[in-house]
Amino acid sequence: MSQFALETQDITKTYRVSAGIFKGKKSLKAVNGVSLSIPKGSILGLVGESGCGKTTIAKMMLGLETPTSGDLFISGQNVAVMGSKQIAKKIQPVFQDPYSSLNPRKSITKIITLPLRSQGLARTGADLDKRVDEIMEIVGLPPRLKHNYPNQLSGGQRQRVAVARALIMKPEIVLCDEPTSALDVSVQAQILNMLMDLRNELDLTYLFISHDLAVVEHIATHVAVMYLGRVVEEAKACDLFARPSHPYTQALLASVLTPEPAMGLPDLHLGIEYPNPIDPPSGCTFHPRCVKCRDLCTREAPKTQVNDGKLVACHFPDNF
Ligand SMILES: Nc1ncnc2c1ncn2[C@@H]1O[C@H](COP(=O)(O)OP(=O)(O)OP(=O)(O)O)[C@@H](O)[C@H]1O
Ligand SMILES: [Mg+2]
Repeated sequence: MSQFALETQDITKTYRVSAGIFKGKKSLKAVNGVSLSIPKGSILGLVGESGCGKTTIAKMMLGLETPTSGDLFISGQNVAVMGSKQIAKKIQPVFQDPYSSLNPRKSITKIITLPLRSQGLARTGADLDKRVDEIMEIVGLPPRLKHNYPNQLSGGQRQRVAVARALIMKPEIVLCDEPTSALDVSVQAQILNMLMDLRNELDLTYLFISHDLAVVEHIATHVAVMYLGRVVEEAKACDLFARPSHPYTQALLASVLTPEPAMGLPDLHLGIEYPNPIDPPSGCTFHPRCVKCRDLCTREAPKTQVNDGKLVACHFPDNF
C-alpha cells in the first residue's frame, strides 16, 4: 500500500488555444511537468497566482481532464485505469463558489445525495435518508434544512452542503479549490475549522488550493508553490513560511501583509505583469520578474533541487 494518498509523476496538460486573429492556434502548457506526493493524512496547500495551473491539476486528479503526459496515482493506483466510480469513491471536490456550484432547483437532500445517485450507488429511500441525516449532523447543518433549496441558505450553510455532498461518498481525499474565498471572513473561519475537525475525525487527506497564504499557513502541513505551470518550491509548511527559498515564494510572502479577502493575490510588486502562458519567457520563466535574476537565469531553466524534504527550482535559492 502506498504511503501517499495522491501522487503525480511529471504530469503535463497542454491545451490548443487561439493565439489571436491571424495567429492561428498555439499550445498552452497549463501544467508543465509537475510531480507532487501527498502523504496520507496531510494537507497540501497549493498556491500561486491566477492562471498558474492549480485547478487544472485538480481536474486531472478528479479524472475530469486527462494528462497530456505523465502519471497520476490515487493510493498507489494509476488513475488512467480507474473508472469514474472508483475515482469518486476515493476523491471528492469542494469548489469555490457555493452559489454557483449548487443546483438552485434541487433540494438540499437531492444535492447531498447526487454523487451517490450519479454513480448508481444510491440505496433504499430510508437508508439514504438516514445517511443524509448523519452527514448533515457531521457538517453542522440543522436537519430542518433538508427539504430547503440553496437560495434559502446562507453562504456558510451552502458551503457546508458542498462539504456534505463531498463526504457522503466517504472519500479518503477531499480536494478543496478555494473553498472559502467567496465567504465572509468570520464564516471562512467556521468552515476552515470544520474542515480541520473533519480531517481528524474522518482521517482525511486534503489538497487545499488557495490564494490566501494566511489561510494556507494556518492549516497546511505541506505547501507547493506554482508558477506558470510548474512547482517552483515545495516544503513542510513551517519550513516554507519560516525560510522561503525561491524568490517567487519570498515575493508571495511579502505580499501577505496586505491581504484583500476574495480579491485574489494582492499586487506582488514584481514590476511586470504575469507572463503570457502561450509565450513563456526563456530560461527560468520567472526571470523577468525576479530581483535576483542573473545571466544564467535568462538562458537556462533551473533543475529542481531536493534537500532534506524541501524542493526548489531556482539557480540561486536562499536558505537551501
Ligand atoms: N479548457 C481549457 N482550454 C484552454 N486553456 C485552459 C483551459 N483550462 C485552463 N486553461 C488555461 O490554463 C491555465 C491554467 O488555468 P487554471 O484554471 O488551472 O489556473 P488556476 O491556477 O486555477 O487559476 P485561478 O487562481 O484563477 O483559479 C490558464 O492560462 C488557463 O487560461
Ligand atoms: Mg482555479
